[in-house]
Amino acid sequence: MKILVVGSGGREHALAWKLAQSERIQMVYVAPGNGGTARDPRLVNVNITDLHELATFVEQEHIGLTVVGPETPLAGGIVNLFRARGLKVFGPTKEAAQLESSKDFAKAFMQRHGIPTAKYQTFSDVAQAHAYIDANGAPIVIKADGLAAGKGVVVAMSLEEAHRAVDDMLADNRFGDAGARIVIEEFLAGEEASFIVMCDGKNILPLATSQDHKRLKDNDEGPNTGGMGAYSPAPIVTPAMHARVMREIINPTIAGMAKDGIVFTGFLYAGLMIDAQGNPRTLEFNCRMGDPETQPIMSRLKTDLVAVMEHAVHGTLDQVELEWDRRTAVGVVLAAAGYPDAPLKGAVIDGIPAETPESVTFHAGTADVGGHLQVTGGRVLCVVGLGDSIKIAQKQAYEVVDQISFDGMQCRRDIGWRGLKH
Ligand code: AMP
Ligand code: GLY
Repeated sequence: MKILVVGSGGREHALAWKLAQSERIQMVYVAPGNGGTARDPRLVNVNITDLHELATFVEQEHIGLTVVGPETPLAGGIVNLFRARGLKVFGPTKEAAQLESSKDFAKAFMQRHGIPTAKYQTFSDVAQAHAYIDANGAPIVIKADGLAAGKGVVVAMSLEEAHRAVDDMLADNRFGDAGARIVIEEFLAGEEASFIVMCDGKNILPLATSQDHKRLKDNDEGPNTGGMGAYSPAPIVTPAMHARVMREIINPTIAGMAKDGIVFTGFLYAGLMIDAQGNPRTLEFNCRMGDPETQPIMSRLKTDLVAVMEHAVHGTLDQVELEWDRRTAVGVVLAAAGYPDAPLKGAVIDGIPAETPESVTFHAGTADVGGHLQVTGGRVLCVVGLGDSIKIAQKQAYEVVDQISFDGMQCRRDIGWRGLKH
């Protein structure tokens, strides 16, 4: 069978890498892919991004299934379009993707269905937003309503920062339409975890837990990024916590969507904040896998992902039992100079070693230019190390990291540190 993976990041490289391991796979296409998917002999890059053209390509090549990585094509209706043309695709419809594409939609949804989340209000008026901040005080969190590639959230520790964020988003239109409305919400303290499930419209299949590292620098300092590293499993999600998140957040979300007339299919990612008392709240929903969470999660998945995907599009996920590598996987992101504000492109990447049973390097912002690998984006690579403990997995990952070089390379040296505390 032939499969198409849509996207170009580390998440898509990891999904394609895992799909290609299946004995039932004839070919895995990645659109548009990156330098890593270009170099993998089992994968084929397809330079198409227009959704109609992609559907035509899928028809012409008799591709049996499409898996969508990023939020933009999902919010753009790729699933609606493919289904209308009779093509099998795993992901949420445009309507279901609103859980991610509109923070206001997600917050109102959670309030309506009693799903625990931070208290909030939505604004399009600058003066009212400023008044709300003055009335509530700092710390406080300002979020652009629409998709902003992980950059539309300001966790303001001071009133001044909060007011500036409002001016940036609402008055100066920094995020265009995405910031024409903003959500202002209560600051939640605690530890974050990424809780990702697959949903086929009826059945819910949880994946292994993970934890992302959003800040650029060690000790969770510096600006927010798309994610500088992730590890799986996340010890904060104990079996009791897992049961509670399913009961209080995941099940009511899928049921609530159905009640509102929207069947949810695809990956559902709840970004959790777990407070000191152990209460989980939802910070955000994504309607896709996380990046970089996918890289350690896929590195641990033992079950044939093609079979899982087929069950997912046929509504039979209840027949699947996922098997996981018992080891911990730690994924360290190597980012370009200037990331996250203004990543510098063009540096030549050297020293990526071959995959071993203990480590694998996934590509993101890379391209193969005449046999040389070049930096083309902010997050460049994600090195995953596997080991019987977080410490050993870290050691495996950083041994590989230390062999790789490019001008201005940035990475955190502490991925997994919260896990070590548990
Ligand atoms: P989001 O895109 O909504 O997940 O926000 C990005 C990051 O901002 C999250 O991963 C958190 O680290 C932080 N964040 C978002 N909302 C809150 C909140 N209400 N309280 C504290 N931190 C938050
Ligand atoms: N790593 C966070 C995200 O994918 O949104």
